[in-house]
Amino acid sequence: MSPALLSLRDVTKSYPRGGLIDRVLKGTKPFVALDNVSLDIHRGDVVGIVGESGSGKSTLASLAVGLIAPTAGDILLDGENLAELMRDHAGPWRRRIQMAFQDSSSALNPRKTVELCLTETLALRGVAREGRRQEAHELLALVGLGAELAPRLPHELSGGQRQRVGLARALAMRPDVLFADEPVSALDVSLQAQVVNLLARLTRELGLTLVFISHDLALVRTLCSRLIVMRNGAIVEQGACRDVLDNPQHDYTRLLIAAVPKGLAGRRVGPPASSAGASILERKSPDPKKSIFASRRLAERI
Ligand SMILES: Nc1ncnc2c1ncn2[C@@H]1O[C@H](COP(=O)(O)OP(=O)(O)OP(=O)(O)O)[C@@H](O)[C@H]1O
Ligand SMILES: [Mg+2]
Repeated sequence: MSPALLSLRDVTKSYPRGGLIDRVLKGTKPFVALDNVSLDIHRGDVVGIVGESGSGKSTLASLAVGLIAPTAGDILLDGENLAELMRDHAGPWRRRIQMAFQDSSSALNPRKTVELCLTETLALRGVAREGRRQEAHELLALVGLGAELAPRLPHELSGGQRQRVGLARALAMRPDVLFADEPVSALDVSLQAQVVNLLARLTRELGLTLVFISHDLALVRTLCSRLIVMRNGAIVEQGACRDVLDNPQHDYTRLLIAAVPKGLAGRRVGPPASSAGASILERKSPDPKKSIFASRRLAERI
């Protein structure tokens, strides 16, 4: 097997608890948000991360993209250490690993229009000034948004539109690895299908390596080849997505699967992956002209 694109080696992230007095006099232990996690992500992997709220999923993503520093352990990109890369020159790392954020309202600068947000990102990637506007509009089309949204500020968008602008901004960097932190949680079912469809195509056709954090096991089954189950800051189970979902080895994974409401058409976890996947991927997007393939040129460039 080829060497991992992104590796976490015994990574721990802890936060101080209580005030200075508590810590010094009472010896209050820090809160461990991520506990000694090791993990390899290979080129082309589509990895799902599931786990209850507070289990450390976003913490893991924030560490991997370099937003926060680990308390202990190493994070490696193509064998190079994040800590050293950040010290010397953070730019390439930031470009190669992107994150579409869970909270779309705080992820976008409230004073920047959609177009400015995208063109600034394209400028960071080195796209020439005259090509930025056009590519920004192509990126919007790629995530199923019309060019009429380009002059708007974030507060003039719906939650789902904001989330897709965040995704477009992450894709603007043409990352090697995209961490999508609950990228469809604010979308209605048809838009969820559109974005999941988009992500599936990006991974399949462009070889994008994707880490998809979600509470929705049906979507995870549709999209992901590998699955990581987290609890209390640790990985409790991982493996091929279908194996883990169809034959969970850990009690906690069984609990998570059992907690999915039954009887919601097309969304119940349990049927073979092929049928669950097909139902979502084959669903038509609201406007097929704005689908990823309307933006073929961009897709070829990413
Ligand atoms: N800056 C911080 N200071 C202290 N504790 C933090 C900080 N950031 C996160 N935590 C704690 O770390 C734990 C893991 O948080 P994290 O955001 O990674 O959870 P999550 O799995 O993404 O949850 P959710 O599914 O709700 O998004 C939580 O208990 C959270 O309160
Ligand atoms: Mg989270």
